[in-house]
Amino acid sequence: MAHPSPHGRPSRSRLIGALLAASALAVSAVPAASAQTFPESGTSPTSSSSQKAPYLNPKLPVERRVGDLLGRMTLQEKAGQMTQAERAAVDEDQSKITSLGLGSLLSGGGSAPTPNAPEAWADMFDGYQKHALATRLHIPLLYGTDSVHGHGNLVGATVFPHNIALGAARDPALVRETAHITATETRATGPQWAFAPCLCVARDDRWGRTYESFGEDPKLVTEMETAIDGLQGTDPKDLARRDRVLASAKHYAGDGDTTYGTSTTGTYKIDQGVTITGREHFWKTDLAPYIPAVRQHRVGSIMPSYSSVDWTEDGVGNPVKMHANKELLTDVLKQKIGFQGFLISDWEAIHQIPGDYATQVRTAVNAGVDMFMEPYSAPKFVQTLIAEVQAGRVPMSRIDDAVRRILHAKFQLGLFEHPYSDRTNIDTIGSPVHRAVARRAVAQSQVLLKNAHHALPLRPSQRIYVAGTNAHDLGNQAGGWTVTWQGQSGNTAFPGTTILQGIKQNASNVTYSKDASAPTGGHDVGIVVVGETPYAEGIGDVGNNGRTLNLSDADRANVARVCGAIKTCVVLDVAGRPQIVTDELPKTDAFVMSWLPGSEGEGVADVLFGKRPFTGKLPVTWPRSEAQEPINVGDKNYDPLFPYGYGLTTRAGGALR
Ligand code: GLC
Repeated sequence: MAHPSPHGRPSRSRLIGALLAASALAVSAVPAASAQTFPESGTSPTSSSSQKAPYLNPKLPVERRVGDLLGRMTLQEKAGQMTQAERAAVDEDQSKITSLGLGSLLSGGGSAPTPNAPEAWADMFDGYQKHALATRLHIPLLYGTDSVHGHGNLVGATVFPHNIALGAARDPALVRETAHITATETRATGPQWAFAPCLCVARDDRWGRTYESFGEDPKLVTEMETAIDGLQGTDPKDLARRDRVLASAKHYAGDGDTTYGTSTTGTYKIDQGVTITGREHFWKTDLAPYIPAVRQHRVGSIMPSYSSVDWTEDGVGNPVKMHANKELLTDVLKQKIGFQGFLISDWEAIHQIPGDYATQVRTAVNAGVDMFMEPYSAPKFVQTLIAEVQAGRVPMSRIDDAVRRILHAKFQLGLFEHPYSDRTNIDTIGSPVHRAVARRAVAQSQVLLKNAHHALPLRPSQRIYVAGTNAHDLGNQAGGWTVTWQGQSGNTAFPGTTILQGIKQNASNVTYSKDASAPTGGHDVGIVVVGETPYAEGIGDVGNNGRTLNLSDADRANVARVCGAIKTCVVLDVAGRPQIVTDELPKTDAFVMSWLPGSEGEGVADVLFGKRPFTGKLPVTWPRSEAQEPINVGDKNYDPLFPYGYGLTTRAGGALR
């Protein structure tokens, strides 16, 4: 049965994949170990005497345990460990986890148990784990999820500002703290692996994933890699703790530096496109953040990008998919930079490699991909990989290298000793303490771009008129990767506070009129909140589904009406990237970029009313027009509306500094 893809992605290939998976499962999922011609290397987990096999002995060094276990595994078991399926593909018949010997499951965007609640997540996780432990060698599952701004798939989790906002805050310690809370809330429900942080260097704001980036400057992105420390801890032993998870730096590399209009998949315009560049620029800009991620932060996994690279010095016209790029995955990342963790492919990303499925599998594994996110094709993947090894087209040494890397992570995470969920921290999920940190992150990320006549800070005694959908919409202020893959407008999907609610906590005389139709007379200040509705990935690319950097007609009308009628006018932009406000700016007295604040909208009010100072700085250049994109600090003839790093500061409770 073709599971409704949790990504909701309009994907024909997924439907076919699911149908193939279903048919493949109609018979035995994979040839039984005895049926394969490959020499058996499997031996039982307990040796002849009663003592436990070395790999089950936590007192032994990880490398010793890995070596022992690897030596006991059959080719089929190794192929299973290199396979990750979407939970929705096994949920109705969890015996597939055992029969395939799956190494991992994931929750794609929006893929959650019913009810979507912490205990239900942990029960679901434990159920899957039980099936993994029923395999011959009892190898526990790794479970990954997109905890990219909190445990976003979980209703009730603390939802932090997206990375672009954290980049604006310029506070590495804060990023470490938010990531640690994310790890705590994630692991308390079972998953031990976050597909985060994105180390993408967003060079063109027309990209639908700009908000997942810490900014356009690789140095800023590198400073924010404290996110890896927050997720994993700083000592390898931390990974076994109940408040840490494996991190996944993504998407290696150049995902944010593709050329607009070069995307080769779907209707995307830039996402999953081609990075047309020279090796020197690529190394300095796109690849640079991965060096400290590996050498300093010891990131446990890395996810290659869907995108391709086309070297200008080799004569443009030969784009190579990152998932097929042995030079960059193995020669550069693993050998030159020294990455010891494992590479996890992106969602069906190998399906974009030219050739039939066997070619795609062979090319990617030989290029250096270690684990394969094949959400609905797991049985077919296992069979194909085994066949490629048996045919001599994939060397056993490559398989052993991949499995060694995966097992190393599992031992470091303590999965063999503690395979099931540890619910000790489950009551901290969405706690006031966690939300207070998120609220502070919201405040620190606000960027004050204009403040004429000391319009800000506001005073509680002022009569305030608020307009705009994004003033009172939790879903819009959280953006994509929140409960569902694409996110959703409205105030019902998850708990939190909106910007309007924050304003009302500070002032008693507040009028809210979403479309500014209410009378504006008798007010001291007008606040118009403009911005975007949620999106994720290429769905948010400018040019897709009407997406543009320009303000909507409704937002423009609200600014014109409110700022034209009320003496002091403040505009807030709740969006995942700079919008074109060149014409509206002169109409305002103050202009604030609020980004995508997440569940704690009160944090915006904290700086509006001077409870906290404005300190945020732009992590990306602010263009005068869409036509200026891409525009980045360091460009020749650099003439943006606001430059990279710009932001006015105020003292708490005080005036402009
Ligand atoms: C998506 C994204 C990636 C995410 C993965 C799993 O396609 O590219 O960032 O981690 O699938 O949801």
